[in-house]
Order: sequence, then C-alpha cells, then structure tokens
Amino acid sequence: MFCLQIFIGSLILICSTFCQNCERNPNNASMCTFSGIQRSMQMDELTDSNPDEIKRIKFVNSFINRIPIKLTEIYKNLVDLDVSNSLVCVLRDQYFKGGKLQKLNASGNVISYLESNINNVLQNLEVLDLSRNRIQVLEDNVFYYFTKLKYLNLSHNEIKKLPANFTSYTDNVNVLDLGNNQISSLAGDFSSKNSRSNAVNLSNNLLVSIDPMSFKNLFRLNINFNKLEKIINFQGTNIKELLICGNSLQLLIINKQLVILDVSYNNGNSLEIDFGSESALECLKLSNLKLFDYTDILANISKLNNLMHLDLSMSNLTTFDFDNNMLPKSIKVLNLMNTQLKVLKNFKNILTAAPNLKEIILNGNFLKDKELWDISKKFGINVTGLEITDETITEEIKTKTILFSDHNIIIIVAVSMNILLFIINLYLTATLHA
Ligand SMILES: *[C@@H]1O[C@H](CO)[C@@H](O)[C@H](O)[C@H]1NC(C)=O
Ligand SMILES: *[C@@H]1O[C@H](CO)[C@@H](O)[C@H](O)[C@H]1NC(C)=O
Ligand SMILES: *[C@@H]1O[C@H](CO)[C@@H](O)[C@H](O)[C@H]1NC(C)=O
Ligand SMILES: *[C@@H]1O[C@H](CO)[C@@H](O)[C@H](O)[C@H]1NC(C)=O
Ligand SMILES: *[C@@H]1O[C@H](CO)[C@@H](O)[C@H](O)[C@H]1NC(C)=O
Ligand SMILES: *[C@@H]1O[C@H](CO)[C@@H](O)[C@H](O)[C@H]1NC(C)=O
Ligand SMILES: *[C@@H]1O[C@H](CO)[C@@H](O)[C@H](O)[C@H]1NC(C)=O
Ligand SMILES: *[C@@H]1O[C@H](CO)[C@@H](O)[C@H](O)[C@H]1NC(C)=O
Repeated sequence: MFCLQIFIGSLILICSTFCQNCERNPNNASMCTFSGIQRSMQMDELTDSNPDEIKRIKFVNSFINRIPIKLTEIYKNLVDLDVSNSLVCVLRDQYFKGGKLQKLNASGNVISYLESNINNVLQNLEVLDLSRNRIQVLEDNVFYYFTKLKYLNLSHNEIKKLPANFTSYTDNVNVLDLGNNQISSLAGDFSSKNSRSNAVNLSNNLLVSIDPMSFKNLFRLNINFNKLEKIINFQGTNIKELLICGNSLQLLIINKQLVILDVSYNNGNSLEIDFGSESALECLKLSNLKLFDYTDILANISKLNNLMHLDLSMSNLTTFDFDNNMLPKSIKVLNLMNTQLKVLKNFKNILTAAPNLKEIILNGNFLKDKELWDISKKFGINVTGLEITDETITEEIKTKTILFSDHNIIIIVAVSMNILLFIINLYLTATLHA
C-alpha cells in the first residue's frame, strides 16, 4: 500500500513536468493554469479533459517563447489569455484563429514588432496589455479592427511613432497607457467616444509640444516627464485631472473645469500659472519647484476659491507669511515639508487666514517654534513635523516630577539626618552630664 502511494506520487510528479495538464482552479472550473513550462516543444501537448469549459488560461513561471499554435482551436471558448512575463517575441494571427479572445495579457515579454494582420483575429479584444516589451514598430493598420478595445497598455516599450490614424482606430479605448516610450510627436484626437473616466498616459516620452485640444474630452491626462516648454493653454478642454510634472513650462493656462493639477518638478526658475476666474481646482501640487520668486504665484493661488489641498513641499520657499501670502479660505491641508522655511510669520492669525485648515505638514524644516505648537493645539490643527510634540511635553513634565521627587528625598534624608543628629546630641549631652 505504502509502495503504491509512493509510486502514484512520483507518477504525478513526473506527469506534472511532462504532460502539461491544465490545473483547474478549485473555485472556478472555467479557469486553468499551466505552470513551469520551460520549452516550446512542451506547449503543443497541452491537455485537458474538457477544453470547452475553459474560459481563462494563465501561464505561470513559464518561459514560453511563442503562444501554442492550436490554443484557440483546442480551447474554443477561451476569452482570457495571460502569457505575461515569458519570452514571447511575436504575436501571429495563426495563434488566435477562430478565437473569441476578449483579454490578452502579454506584458513583460520580448515582442518587438506588431504585424497588422493580427487585428483580423482579435476583433473581440477589449483588454490588451503589451506593456514592458520591446515594441519599436507598430504597422499602420495594426489596430484597424480593434473596435471593442477599451484598455490598451503599450507602456515601457521603445515606440518612437504612433501609426497613422491611431486615434481613429482606438476610438473606444478608455484607458490608454503610452508611458515610458520615445514618442516625440502626436496626431489626432485622443478623447474616447463614450467615457467619463477616459485616461491617457504619455508620461516619460520626448514630447516638446502638444495640442491640448487633442485631449479635449479626457478625464485624466498624465504628461509627466516630457520636454514641454514655454506656454501651454488648456482653456476650452474639459480635462479634470492634469499631471504635468517634470517639464520645463514657463506659462500654464488651465481650464476652469480642472480639479487636480500637479506641476511639481518643473525645472525652470520662473513658472506662471493662469488659473483664470472661477477655477474648480481642489488639489494643487507644486512640489519641488525652485522658483526665484513666489510672490505672484501665491497671490494667484489665493484666488482659488475651491482649493483644499496645497502642496509646496521641497520647494525653496524661505518664509511663509499668513497675513501677506493669503491662503484661500477653503484650504484644508497645507504641505510645507522639506522646504527652506525658517519662520512662519503671523502664524497666530492662522484662523483668520485659513479658517478651514485641518493639517499643516512641516517635517524637515528649521522651525522649532513652541508658539506654533500652542496655537495649533488651540485651534485643533494637526501639525506634523514640529520638534515639539505631545510626547516632549509629557517628557518635560515627567522630568520635572522626577526632579521634584529627588528633591523630596533629599529633604527627607536631610530632615532625618537632622533628627538623628539631634538625638545623638541629646544622648551625648545626657551621658556627659551623668
Ligand atoms: C470564473 O472566472 C471567470 C473568468 O475567467 C469569471 O468571469 C467568473 O465570474 C468566475 N466565476 C466565479 C464563480 O468566480
Ligand atoms: C498583466 O500581467 C501583469 C503581470 O502578471 C500584471 O501585473 C498586469 O496587471 C496584467 N494586466 C492586466 C491588464 O490585467
Ligand atoms: C501599464 O503597464 C505598466 C507596466 O506593466 C503598469 O505599471 C501600469 O500601471 C499599467 N497602466 C495602467 C493604466 O494600468
Ligand atoms: C487614414 O485615414 C484616412 C481617412 O480617414 C485614409 O484616407 C488614410 O488612407 C488612412 N491612412 C492609413 C495609413 O490608414
Ligand atoms: C499612467 O498613469 C496612470 C494614472 O495616472 C497610472 O495608473 C499608470 O500606472 C501610469 N503608467 C505608467 C507607465 O507610469
Ligand atoms: C497670475 O495670473 C495672471 C492671470 O490671472 C497671469 O497672467 C500671471 O502670469 C500669473 N502669475 C503667476 C506668477 O503665476
Ligand atoms: C530658488 O531656486 C532658484 C533656482 O535655483 C534660484 O534662482 C532662487 O534664487 C532660489 N531662491 C531661494 C530663496 O533660495
Ligand atoms: C495628523 O496627520 C498625520 C499625517 O498625515 C496622520 O498620520 C495623523 O493621524 C493625523 N492626526 C490627527 C489627530 O488627525
């Protein structure tokens, strides 16, 4: 019996390395995992007793260099294929013939080229993740039939140029990630047809200029770390969130619908932002700016009637005057972490300056003012980063108490010594007299 168990055990062990059985998910019979496939040869021998049931296949810890040729013929109902983190170098139409694939994840492979004929067989695709590959060339009509595509991730590739008519073929794509490529120019309208959460990421590319109108109806645009300079005008667009860090802007003109703006790490020493009138801005991040002069930009910020969160951390701001650098009354959180601040002027007027302030972050400054602590306690503002804290105050009290009790002991000892000396004295006097 024992022998038989060992025998069956080793058979299972051998089988799992050679037969490539589909490992059913115990909670979901339609999901199947193939693990540890090291060679392409093994792949065309994928087996399963009931392939029609399988909707989702995932390869884990595998180093396959191509997708098994008959995969979609064997698994006719496959809708979701995950071949991420393998060594696949090309996507061919014959892999997907007759398939109904809706989601394909080929992230983290070594694909360098996308042939235009794959779009004939991937017409049902809604999610395509090709991030972290080596794609350099996208053939002109490669996305022609991808009419159902909603999510397209092409980030972390080597794309220099988008194919002609790219934006008209990707009209339904709500989430488009083109970050970390080498794109230097754009054409077409990137807004998708029908979404309120439409997001485009073009961060870490080589864009020198953009036409904001090509993002007219986006919800979120991330264009961080490009080479944008001079003047950019977003007026007339409906963008709600704009991330435009790490460029060399001189003048940014925003649209009134904008709610979140991040302009951190812009490396010019003068930056002007025209917020227009009646701006909806609630969150403004100006972290890591090194401006020659903050006077005018702070004056413009003071007019933002809806602003709740202002981040000026890591800037080279040296003073902040609560009387003169008027904050909008709506402000709730002020982040002044790691600045060059040595003094917060007129902090005692904070309640008039910013009646809604809940938190002020002051870590990494040169401020040690006990007055700040007292005032913030008084008004219930959360001050983080001051050297004085509740604990230091308690420590102070404790130290005093200890000193006091030491003192007590000394008094007690001194008094007792005196009494003792008095008794000795009495005794000595008595014996001497006797
Ligand atoms: C099984 O997995 C599929 C995805 O392949 C999913 O659509 C379905 O909801 C899952 N069913 C259960 C019961 O979790
Ligand atoms: C694709 O796979 C990678 C790695 O397994 C994962 O991080 C990523 O979220 C997946 N993409 C999608 C769209 O599910
Ligand atoms: C795209 O893929 C990259 C790398 O896999 C990932 O970091 C990023 O979050 C993805 N983008 C979106 C919008 O999901
Ligand atoms: C782009 O679209 C126009 C019409 O909208 C068409 O004339 C042209 O051939 C297309 N170009 C490519 C390369 O598909
Ligand atoms: C692009 O931006 C989106 C949201 O702003 C984010 O989820 C995604 O991870 C970013 N992708 C890269 C490659 O940074
Ligand atoms: C302040 O706003 C005005 C327009 O309201 C703009 O012309 C000017 O450049 C802005 N200044 C700064 C320093 O942002
Ligand atoms: C802040 O940095 C800029 C650029 O390096 C410099 O021109 C300016 O003088 C600095 N201001 C202060 C107060 O250090
Ligand atoms: C104060 O702010 C810090 C940092 O944001 C947070 O961890 C802490 O919970 C806040 N304390 C109170 C009393 O709000």
